Amino acid sequence: MAGDVRSLEESTTDAVAEAMGRALPAELAGADPLVRRSEHADFQANAALSLAKKAGRKPRELAEEIAAALDPEAGLGVELSGPGFLNLTVTDRAVWRQVAARLADARLGVGTPRLGQRTVIDYSAPNIAKEMHVGHLRTTTIGDALGRLLEHVGAEVIRQNHLGDWGTQFGMLIQYLDEHPEAKWRARDLEEGASGTTSALDGLYKLARARFDAEPEFAERARRRVVALQAGDEPTLALWHELVEESEKAFQAVYDYLGIQLTPADSAGESSYNRYLADVTAELERAGVAVDSDGALCVFFDGITGPDGNPVPLIVRKSDGGYGYGTTDLATIRYRIQELKATRILYVVGAPQTLHFRMIFDTARRMGWLTDDVEAVHVSFGSVLGPGGRPFKTRAGASVRMLDLLEEAVAKARAEIETKPHTLNPDELATVARQAGIGAVKYAELSTSRTKDYTFDPERMVSFNGNTGVYLQYAHTRIRSILRKLPDDAGDTPATVSADAPMEPAERALALLTDQFAPILTEVADTLEPHRLCGYLFSLAKAFTEFYESCPVLTAEPEQVRANRVALCQLTGATLAEGLRLLGIETPERM
Ligand code: ARG
Repeated sequence: MAGDVRSLEESTTDAVAEAMGRALPAELAGADPLVRRSEHADFQANAALSLAKKAGRKPRELAEEIAAALDPEAGLGVELSGPGFLNLTVTDRAVWRQVAARLADARLGVGTPRLGQRTVIDYSAPNIAKEMHVGHLRTTTIGDALGRLLEHVGAEVIRQNHLGDWGTQFGMLIQYLDEHPEAKWRARDLEEGASGTTSALDGLYKLARARFDAEPEFAERARRRVVALQAGDEPTLALWHELVEESEKAFQAVYDYLGIQLTPADSAGESSYNRYLADVTAELERAGVAVDSDGALCVFFDGITGPDGNPVPLIVRKSDGGYGYGTTDLATIRYRIQELKATRILYVVGAPQTLHFRMIFDTARRMGWLTDDVEAVHVSFGSVLGPGGRPFKTRAGASVRMLDLLEEAVAKARAEIETKPHTLNPDELATVARQAGIGAVKYAELSTSRTKDYTFDPERMVSFNGNTGVYLQYAHTRIRSILRKLPDDAGDTPATVSADAPMEPAERALALLTDQFAPILTEVADTLEPHRLCGYLFSLAKAFTEFYESCPVLTAEPEQVRANRVALCQLTGATLAEGLRLLGIETPERM
């Protein structure tokens, strides 16, 4: 069997829908039964309440009729409560069978509901010749998690790293390099570890910038360089290529350290759309979507105005003939739809660009590129804040380097692990510290609702307690250690589940949660909100702790009971590992 075990929530929904079909008049029969997990029973169906008004009947009466029409074969216990809720209880047998079915499947019963969908994910997109800073952390981790998860539920994912590799700043950089070849060599000499190169490039940027601001003649030469670059002048292009290559090497080192699934093959920088800009502009002008405004070519929008009440346009071509960031994004969306044949396009970009993407999507719709069968989403996110919830800057007011943050988190994780008794040798400790530190940063990013700002607090992130990546990794290692204690490697073979064995409340709570894994993944694939998966995994780990406190595993008697508990450990462990993997977080065997 490969994937797609129907969850109890789904089969309960089916049973209630069927009863509604039998009991209710046609115009109500097809409504959503509104089955949810409940505190009062396993599930609760709320359809009667929502339909009562439409039917002109009392909700309780409707609920009674639905209850009476439930197929006894479905094995659902039913009770009416409140004004018209149906409290539904599944049998212990059904729950154990569910555990067996998920455990027997390598995909834990997760189906592929997104099969046949081609999804472009635009994420990370750092700027060439600048170092990746804290602002790139969110887009990189969120984009990466979404890519893994969507792929797992069947989507064909095309990763696109929209590198900032074009623009007027390159004139300045190239001119500086040309006049100061020694700056380049200095950059090479500085190369050390993952951060060497871009640090050097960052230094180059600062030097060039200072000269540009201080010396009008240099600024003028830099401007002429931009023209030369755009005209395809060979020596200028060669220097540009060198800059891009050096930066890309440094970005790749960060991706590898972070465990991000981006490779050079996913790079599609702004420069790669240059060849379409003239054509896109002509198409916009011909369609009358872009119009002349004081010599510039602009798109205007209903309801988009500045603080002064004047319309704010998207500038397609500046009055000096130059193209900008917006024009490139128009060419990009057209390319993604027409050439890549995407059915879903996700832009994992910070909230400050909300207006920009509204303009891009609106323009693409008016041009007929973006049609109803293509979904374009700005997967927006809030800022990363520094200590005390203030904007995250170094003491000197600069952006904080991403690599510094990661290294700090890894060091803190290491210190935290060392406070506990452990059996790791120095090499293992280094590996686990990296997995824990990186996992902690990613989890902190992903577990906050992405539209909210969050405070970067490495101390809290690496804590073994609370809703942290380390807590979840640790919960997983505890389960692995229980399973290692079983004789004859029995921990690695799925235990045989007896559906007739009794079921403790803590076993039931845990088993029902493991059954929610597939629906949660579907929910994240729809809402693009990884924090829902984080919240789920945290509940699962807590439910496991409660289970383990009240239900001994290794010493349980008789054998049937022990085997069922082993199965629960195995299924929980596998679900935690799989869920964390989909978030891009590794799961060490010990820590
Ligand atoms: N490089 C841009 C920045 O750092 C982000 C690019 C996002 N993607 C896009 N298609 N505009 O702000």
